[in-house]
Amino acid sequence: LLPCICLCAAEYYLVDDRIGLGRRFDGIGGLSGGGATSRLLINYNESYRSQILDYLFKPNFGASLHILKVEIGGDAQTTDGTEPSHMHNENDENYFRGYEWWLMKEAKKRNPDIILIGLPWAFPGWVGQGSNWPYTFPNITANYVVSWVIGAKQHHGLDINYIGIWNEKDYNVKYITVLRDTLDRAGLTGVGIIAADGNWDISKAMLGDSYLNDAVEVIGVHYPGTMTIKEAMITGKVLWSSEDYSTFNNNIGAGCWARILNQNYVNGRMTSTISWNLIASYYEDLSFGRDGLMTAEEPWSGNYVVESPIWITAHTTQFAQPGWTYLQTVGHLKHGGSYVALTDGNGNLTIIIETMVVRFYLFVLQQWYSKLNFMNKKDTLFQNITPIKVSNGYFTLQLDVDEVYTITTVTSGHKGLYPDPPEAAPFPKKYFDDFNVSNPPFSEAPCFADQTGVFEYFRNLTDPGPHVYTLRQVVTQRPVTWAYDADQTITVIGDHTWQNLSVSCDVYIENENGGVFLAARVDQGGESVKSAMGVFYWVFANGTYKVTNDLGGEKVLAEGLSGTRVGIWHTLTLTVKGYFAFGMLNGYPLWKNAVVLQPLNGWAAIGTNSFEYAQFDNFKVDAD
Ligand code: GAL
Ligand code: CA
Repeated sequence: LLPCICLCAAEYYLVDDRIGLGRRFDGIGGLSGGGATSRLLINYNESYRSQILDYLFKPNFGASLHILKVEIGGDAQTTDGTEPSHMHNENDENYFRGYEWWLMKEAKKRNPDIILIGLPWAFPGWVGQGSNWPYTFPNITANYVVSWVIGAKQHHGLDINYIGIWNEKDYNVKYITVLRDTLDRAGLTGVGIIAADGNWDISKAMLGDSYLNDAVEVIGVHYPGTMTIKEAMITGKVLWSSEDYSTFNNNIGAGCWARILNQNYVNGRMTSTISWNLIASYYEDLSFGRDGLMTAEEPWSGNYVVESPIWITAHTTQFAQPGWTYLQTVGHLKHGGSYVALTDGNGNLTIIIETMVVRFYLFVLQQWYSKLNFMNKKDTLFQNITPIKVSNGYFTLQLDVDEVYTITTVTSGHKGLYPDPPEAAPFPKKYFDDFNVSNPPFSEAPCFADQTGVFEYFRNLTDPGPHVYTLRQVVTQRPVTWAYDADQTITVIGDHTWQNLSVSCDVYIENENGGVFLAARVDQGGESVKSAMGVFYWVFANGTYKVTNDLGGEKVLAEGLSGTRVGIWHTLTLTVKGYFAFGMLNGYPLWKNAVVLQPLNGWAAIGTNSFEYAQFDNFKVDAD
């Protein structure tokens, strides 16, 4: 490798491999889940969907990610919705639910070397055997997780590279060693354990426990603020920022991401950084709207936005690959910002400089450049500019603030570009779904975003005809939760700005003591789903109805007899206009003039009174 010296107006920065190398670079990644952050992506039409996937995963095109981390669905709310488990019940196994399998395969298609990671946020209730805790029976939990790894290979040909413990919750030493053992006994010795996806504390425990230390391959921390701790360094283990970023994806977010990508190594010796989240594909009014590397939240219009964090990612990912090595000469710039340098050991060199908060005077090297503008000026994003001339091992570069430069010997960098996607547009005001799909490509119906419970396409083989294909709520026990799931199940759909509308749906109570609802103006989901307000029209198996202002069912606006029963289909219609709501049952008025002072707007929704089976059909919205 050629040594190269960077020189700045009275500032010199040395980049040289002769003084020895630093740590191995393990890659930059995106996180799908934690939770339901890719929910709307799957409902995009081709070719928009493939274009989006190319911007994320295709080498030398866009973000060209090295790592895809996914949530192992646990049937519970994990930030922007629930993701289905591969084992809703103890005797159930299905490796075709949700969209993470599909996403991993799409990522692999584009980059066969992409590293795959799975991590649970929540677990189905049976894993806790009645407790809200996954470590009471470590064998059960380990078998459950290892089943997911085996299923990935058996049903999708996917090799999972790493597995985590329990996202941002307590780790458990016994469980970690049991998990290692269970993986090994299944022949999965190559699957590494990342722990503990929280703070750095586990590194202290590892120093005092050699079994634990042996079981953990990577110390993964979340939002480390680019810093590490002494104990983590002493373990000698690989250190990753296994979840980071979580910032609105405008230029402020992009600048923050640029800083993190360099400084997680410069300050904290972390050799991988993973963005929460991969792509903002969830309704923007849920928790942390648009905290993804790019945005694709309108499958109905096809509109998507390749946001600036994609191009900031490209500055690293297109010019250094997992297996490259950092040089020891990395560091801070005197006036803010930082630089890292990496080599493949075969004569290639990549230098990435960020000046996120400067001036730098620095062979012929390729030069890629971004400047984030905050003054209504146009951004420059990931541009291939005039190669830099190096003379006698010196080059000079004039740096300004809010810039990222990649100076590299690698010549394969490329800024991918597709024609502009369609214009952004609101969710259609008239919407209908009869769920009549015999071989659905995904287990969930388009645009329904489950917030508690899981709603799946269902084939009702005993139905005489009209309701063979339905949507069914399938979580029958409260999960081992990660967030505050509601006590009711609920899935939301539509436009959060909807005010006046009519919604209707055929409903089928399966539980003798059960009940279901149809709702409008549902104001919140995500981590605050439990306190969702709106207009909820409930019918129960005991022959009564109720209209409430809240999902909890406490603020009653109207109630009475309905004659509704278990095991037969009923049609509910709910109309909300201004401050009033009206309800029909099977086409006849049942209640009217319920006064709704707030909320003034929100999504439409369906759901159940408890964790119970129930079916829904012919869901229809007509909004003003
Ligand atoms: C993390 C969590 C993610 C998401 C994110 C939002 O702590 O793991 O699932 O909630 O915060 O910032
Ligand atoms: Ca149907």
